[in-house]
Amino acid sequence: MDKALDGILRRAARLMLDFENPQVFAKGGHADFVTEADVAVQAFLLEELARAYPGAAFFAEEAEGQTLGDGLTFIIDPIDGTTNFFRRRRCSAISVGAVEGKMPVFGAIYDPYRDEMYHAERGRGAYCGDVRLHVSDTPMEKAVIGLGSAPYYSELFELTGRTVGRLLPQIADFRRTGSACIDLCDVAAGRSDGHFEWRLQPWDYCAATLIVEEAGGRCGSILGGEVVYDRAMPHLAANARIFDQLQMALQEIERQQ
Ligand code: IPD
Ligand code: CA
Repeated sequence: MDKALDGILRRAARLMLDFENPQVFAKGGHADFVTEADVAVQAFLLEELARAYPGAAFFAEEAEGQTLGDGLTFIIDPIDGTTNFFRRRRCSAISVGAVEGKMPVFGAIYDPYRDEMYHAERGRGAYCGDVRLHVSDTPMEKAVIGLGSAPYYSELFELTGRTVGRLLPQIADFRRTGSACIDLCDVAAGRSDGHFEWRLQPWDYCAATLIVEEAGGRCGSILGGEVVYDRAMPHLAANARIFDQLQMALQEIERQQ
């Protein structure tokens, strides 16, 4: 992977871990928080990436008024798993995806607690460090599926709850780490077989979508169509064997309101 990006992510992670007891602020949605560490890490990433990639634009979680253009744009989640971070659960990561023409071209996710750097470049495979990643080939009835609870959107709670009840009999079990990008890296590495969340933001899934696809998996909207990077969407990722089946099962549950 690009040495500059690797160094920037590792330094950003040291800054994040320096905040042992960060101040926490409510963002307005249900249980939606930002800490002073999120803000500091984002400021560091914006400054360092602008220096390393002159002319690049930015679309970042803790910023206002940024939109996605057609040039090289970094889509940034300074801390994915913010609640995990301030609850000291040691399960958060820094996610930086780069899109051009609104499609991801490279990206990286750094988990400082396990010292794992996940990265991918379009057409060149996905890796954790030097180890090439491959999705599983597990069938639906044996599948371990990552689940995001869309915690900031109370209008989706009933749908998420119904999904758990109706999908569980068709799979082996669910998992939820509290960090969508870490859940998605699990799919890329074949440690789980799919992941969905009824609403996710581009910074949660941008780098991870490329990593899953480059590991041989598929990503798309739960409701059909491609992944978009300029707005929130119902995001689905899975190994190629179960993607269509899982998507159909989720669509059926959504229709059963
Ligand atoms: C959240 C986490 C969580 C997911 C939420 C995300 P944040 O990101 O990825 O797993 O369920 O939808 O917003 O807010 O901690 O960056
Ligand atoms: Ca975040």
